[in-house]
Amino acid sequence: MNLRKDQCLLIVTVLSGVTQAEDDYSQYVNVFHGASGGGNRFPGVVAAPFAMVKLGPDVKNGTADAYSGYLPEGNIWGFSMMHESGTGGAPKYGVVSQMPVVGNVSDPLADLSQPRASPDQGGVGYYKSSLASGVTVELSATEHAGFYSYSFPGGNPASVVVDVSHVLPSFRGLGWEQHYSRGDLSIFDDDHYEGSGTYNNGWNLSPDWTIYFCGKFKQQPSYSWTFKGNTSASRTDASPLSVSGTARLGGVFNFDESHVTSIVGISFISSEKACQNLEDDISEEVELRSLVDNAKSRWNDEVLNKVQISSDDPEDLQLLYSSLYGMFLIPSNKTGENPGWESAEPYYDDIFTLWDTHRCHTALFHIIQPQAYEEFIRSLIDTWRHDGFLPDARSSNFNGRVQGGSNADNVLADAFVKGVRGAIDWDDGFAAMQTDAEVVPANNFDPKSPESSTKEGRGALPDWLQYGYITPRFSRAVSRAIEYSTNDWGLYQVAAGLNKTAEANTYFNRSRNWRNHWNPTATSHNQSGFVVPRLANGSFVPQDPATCGGCYWGDAYYEDNSWIYSMNAIHDVAELKERIGGNPRFVDRLNKIFDLGFFNAGNEPSFTTPYLYNFVDGEQWRSVNRSRYISSLYNAWEKGLPGNSDAGAMESNLLWQMIGLYPLTGQTTFLVLAPWFKSMTLDLGDDKKLSITTTGGDRTTAFYVQSLTVNGEPWDKAWVAWDDIFANGGTMDYVIGESPMHWATGKLPPSPASG
Ligand SMILES: *[C@@H]1O[C@H](CO)[C@@H](O)[C@H](O)[C@H]1NC(C)=O
Ligand SMILES: *[C@@H]1O[C@H](CO)[C@@H](O)[C@H](O)[C@H]1NC(C)=O
Ligand SMILES: *[C@@H]1O[C@H](CO)[C@@H](O)[C@H](O)[C@H]1NC(C)=O
Ligand SMILES: *[C@@H]1O[C@H](CO)[C@@H](O)[C@H](O)[C@H]1NC(C)=O
Ligand SMILES: *[C@@H]1O[C@H](CO)[C@@H](O)[C@H](O)[C@H]1NC(C)=O
Ligand SMILES: *[C@@H]1O[C@H](CO)[C@@H](O)[C@H](O)[C@H]1NC(C)=O
Ligand SMILES: *[C@@H]1O[C@H](CO)[C@@H](O)[C@H](O)[C@H]1NC(C)=O
Ligand SMILES: *[C@@H]1O[C@H](CO)[C@@H](O)[C@H](O)[C@H]1NC(C)=O
Ligand SMILES: *[C@@H]1O[C@H](CO)[C@@H](O)[C@H](O)[C@H]1NC(C)=O
Repeated sequence: MNLRKDQCLLIVTVLSGVTQAEDDYSQYVNVFHGASGGGNRFPGVVAAPFAMVKLGPDVKNGTADAYSGYLPEGNIWGFSMMHESGTGGAPKYGVVSQMPVVGNVSDPLADLSQPRASPDQGGVGYYKSSLASGVTVELSATEHAGFYSYSFPGGNPASVVVDVSHVLPSFRGLGWEQHYSRGDLSIFDDDHYEGSGTYNNGWNLSPDWTIYFCGKFKQQPSYSWTFKGNTSASRTDASPLSVSGTARLGGVFNFDESHVTSIVGISFISSEKACQNLEDDISEEVELRSLVDNAKSRWNDEVLNKVQISSDDPEDLQLLYSSLYGMFLIPSNKTGENPGWESAEPYYDDIFTLWDTHRCHTALFHIIQPQAYEEFIRSLIDTWRHDGFLPDARSSNFNGRVQGGSNADNVLADAFVKGVRGAIDWDDGFAAMQTDAEVVPANNFDPKSPESSTKEGRGALPDWLQYGYITPRFSRAVSRAIEYSTNDWGLYQVAAGLNKTAEANTYFNRSRNWRNHWNPTATSHNQSGFVVPRLANGSFVPQDPATCGGCYWGDAYYEDNSWIYSMNAIHDVAELKERIGGNPRFVDRLNKIFDLGFFNAGNEPSFTTPYLYNFVDGEQWRSVNRSRYISSLYNAWEKGLPGNSDAGAMESNLLWQMIGLYPLTGQTTFLVLAPWFKSMTLDLGDDKKLSITTTGGDRTTAFYVQSLTVNGEPWDKAWVAWDDIFANGGTMDYVIGESPMHWATGKLPPSPASG
């Protein structure tokens, strides 16, 4: 089911009751954008950017994994308060739930799931499901609490089941499914309930972790009871009404009324803190509508109104604002909610993953949300301080898993070179990066990659240090090596900026190690020179660059082949060009990546590749051509992402096409494409703005750059630097037109590790 435009807009209007204010950009957000078709976006309620509570439906349909809890078709079996957005691997969370049931419940562990009577609806801060049982569920939330409003059909008792064992399952059989470990629940004299659930595993193989909850009902239950069992359960006569243990357990609340509202707070610290969070966030008198209004203003003020465009095309607006919204659903700001250590530093969890986001998401996160970005960087460093390593991914307060390199290094370097300072302790930041670069992480004996750590750091570091490349005794040897090179480039950048000359030299050299995997005689489709596996004795392994075995955890390349990974040393492009055989061969190689179908817009390793034409004089137009093709794979609807959202990476990739720039992570360089709109303004904070205009052509038929002025001066380079337009704001005025034009005749983009 694709949410129709009018459906999405209607809901928001109904709820606010009045005409939309001019600057209510939340009206353009389709919360179902990318929620199906493999995007795995979370459509439920996230009351503010990075809110810890993500309240929405949990749907089951056979053996389909519901990564965010949501599936467009299937039965709803609960509404739970924690989810991740746009992740793959295996579902995480789906805990702290309620399920409304019509009539008395004899067995709360029986299948209580319900088909929908009509498709779910939602807007920013609001979600609604209509169940076949006749129950309507409306949801809103705050950062640490949820609001459930139930409307039951009359004439039957109304029941709400709180099943502490409720957690999203996985059916993939990869060993990444979550488990319920134990729980407790107590119902107090005033009918509020408190307790906790403990769960483990998931994609990051995390050990037991615990979430606490505190729930209240506005209406007095006619009676309430607890249950405990493994496959079925009936009323227990616990006294007081309290159950705990490793069996499945929970509580049932019965009402004579047909309208029931409940508010629930959560915390990672204690059930007292969950009650405190509830009290701080939601007063008992609060109405759903005011929570929705709060959520809309948070999103407007903190994210949506940072970007304004001239277009009044509803689909443009919906795609722009839905993409911006999708960028900031995770990570979760859990400052004050860290059970792992006491610290005055901010704490962000649900990083899923930097492997996905370091290429272009974090660079836009920095621009749109500079304050949260600084907090996020501090949190990464604080995680190293207390946990020993920076995360590459992290959820339920546990690092993991690492797919390639230690890409927090790139994120930190990107922030550092763009001048992010604030309260960040960069000496610690560099020490954290050096831990990645010098300390072999303890092996967590992951069945998918048993030879080295997938939890954190660089598992294949021993080879990297000994040989300057990675031998096949480590899985994913080639793709890890390419990423270790860019990671070491990140270390070079920060070391150089901190005047650590010796370290800077070391990591500069190491950043060139991708070259050690380059076999000049490897050929494929009339192209020679590819990164391939290499043995300890120096021999290259014969390898068809067009294939990569399973392309997974145990193979030489992860999720892409050598055609793609050969292009990923983006700090050393001049050298890469030379190795490929010069400009015409380089252009031929880029063309073939598309023509032969190796390019995958839905996966991150080739995100930057389409714009490397800018490194060849006279070829910038080809980057624009590719940019328009990639843009055409997106739309504003439920199946509108060309791949998994990957925590907003996919959305940020599109937003850069709209802006008409592409960042090179870990550098101050942005490659110039061609913007979409007649005008776009980015609010950079501190009264600084970047204003981008196009004249002369149009976005779909006449979009090649004819000329460009930057800050009022003619510009002849196919790139700009951070200081040119972002550090103090600026203007970029493009003339666009139908034919490719050789306008960028100036200096090529920097290749700082080459030469
Ligand atoms: C499960 O999803 C499929 C489509 O993927 C749909 O045809 C089927 O009706 C769904 N099952 C249920 C129980 O809704
Ligand atoms: C539901 O359970 C209550 C308490 O046991 C009982 O009084 C009531 O009759 C039951 N209602 C129905 C419709 O079964
Ligand atoms: C549930 O199963 C666990 C583990 O098999 C067992 O220890 C426990 O006693 C069972 N609980 C109940 C209530 O049957
Ligand atoms: C993160 O959460 C903390 C604690 O609630 C809050 O003080 C801080 O402002 C939040 N950060 C952002 C960017 O909202
Ligand atoms: C590095 O050295 C330069 C030149 O001496 C100086 O301007 C700069 O402040 C130094 N930076 C740091 C972080 O010490
Ligand atoms: C870096 O590499 C160059 C050339 O191979 C070498 O001369 C130099 O000693 C190396 N520097 C460090 C610090 O390893
Ligand atoms: C293969 O590449 C060479 C340049 O290296 C070129 O001269 C030749 O025409 C190409 N052959 C084909 C079939 O494309
Ligand atoms: C390296 O080892 C491989 C496999 O044992 C062997 O085939 C190859 O000839 C060796 N190369 C050199 C240079 O010794
Ligand atoms: C890109 O260029 C090719 C020809 O080189 C053309 O077929 C294609 O339509 C262009 N794409 C767009 C989006 O203009």
